[in-house]
Amino acid sequence: MTDDQLIKMAKDAAQSAYAPYSHFKVGAALLTKEGTVYTGCNVENASYGASNCAERTAIFKAVSEGSTSFTKIAVIAADGSTAYPCGICLQVMQEFMPEGKILVELNGMVVSYNLKDLLPYGFTL
Ligand code: THU
Repeated sequence: MTDDQLIKMAKDAAQSAYAPYSHFKVGAALLTKEGTVYTGCNVENASYGASNCAERTAIFKAVSEGSTSFTKIAVIAADGSTAYPCGICLQVMQEFMPEGKILVELNGMVVSYNLKDLLPYGFTL
């Protein structure tokens, strides 16, 4: 699975985004250590706080299917802007992919970050 392929899967997943409030469609594609890919999109709600980001949708899908260790996640915004994961999503990544990488698109290029760079002091018990 190349970085470009993972980005493409995130773009496809963004088509399913349910974002009638923000109109900001996001897609994610999560690579497990076994090599399986789980995708996700943001799912908003009339009670805004009940909304879920694309990254957490993908991670929760994977965990609910029995996969709990991930190596990489691609995150894209359908409008072509750069979508960096929010703080809640970074903390969820801390739980399941502390050594993982995050791929985003920046000016049409794929850029890779370590989770540790975006969340240097993530909470662990
Ligand atoms: N959103 C994501 O799904 N992932 C991100 O990385 C940034 C923000 C969603 C949440 C909400 O549905 C919309 O984008 C606007 O904040």
